[in-house]
Amino acid sequence: MAQIIDGKALAAEIRQQLKTRVEALVDKGHRPALAVILVGDDPASQVYVRNKIRACAETGIESLEFRMPAETSQETLLSKIDELNRDDKVDGILVQMPVPKHIDSMKVIDAISPLKDVDGFHVVSAGALMTGQKGFLPCTPYGVMKLLEKAGCDLTGKHAVVVGRSNIVGKPQAMLLLSKHATVTVAHSRTADLGAVTRQADVLIAAVGRAKLIKADMVKPGAVVIDVGMNRDENGKLCGDVDFETVKDVAGAITPVPGGVGPMTIAMLLTNTVEAVERRFGIDHA
Ligand code: GUN
Repeated sequence: MAQIIDGKALAAEIRQQLKTRVEALVDKGHRPALAVILVGDDPASQVYVRNKIRACAETGIESLEFRMPAETSQETLLSKIDELNRDDKVDGILVQMPVPKHIDSMKVIDAISPLKDVDGFHVVSAGALMTGQKGFLPCTPYGVMKLLEKAGCDLTGKHAVVVGRSNIVGKPQAMLLLSKHATVTVAHSRTADLGAVTRQADVLIAAVGRAKLIKADMVKPGAVVIDVGMNRDENGKLCGDVDFETVKDVAGAITPVPGGVGPMTIAMLLTNTVEAVERRFGIDHA
């Protein structure tokens, strides 16, 4: 049976370390503040936002919550973002996705100041990652890299296969793996013979959003498997993109769902928020 990579424990460890950094900032008069905007009443988004706000509170980060009705115009949302960009008390700005259909999410993301883009979604953040410059890393792929590190996975020369090509996970994940010297393949929902590709993976990252898509016969024995999926199975139970029950007997190490990548996403959001303050005031946390 594979080593289970415990994201919940690692996220708790990271939050604990962040507390010390937050205390040092508070001593200097700079309590970190994260503005969280939620447009509409999507139930899943409400849960995510609640969890993010709770995690902020536990870490000593101030959160400013803005709930806007589903019929909010794009103009109103953009002007709220503009106001928060100019507000010196606000270090990070997050607009929970998805936004209602009448709003262009790209316009929303690009309205956020890159200096406050703690989600790492802005085109400037994406460009920085692509070219190896300092920016904010998107929280989920950033969390995956921390999980791999924790599992003692040296990526140099390894074949990493990312299944999924989203702007939020797949594409930035591929860049991060590349920066750690892995040989990277990006597969997706239209890849022909997906199993033939995933079976080559020493490190397999599943981020396509299809319940239990990755079966045991699609995994190389001993591979490190990271499951970014958050789906409901046929019984309405939370599950990943990986069929955990069978894959755990083939993989060398594997993340569970829940308790794997999910808690890490929030831990990295908090990390980025603290980092935003430290950069702003030129404070070195080391
Ligand atoms: N929706 C799903 N994941 C995310 C995330 O990481 N950030 C934001 N803002 N919205 C999301």
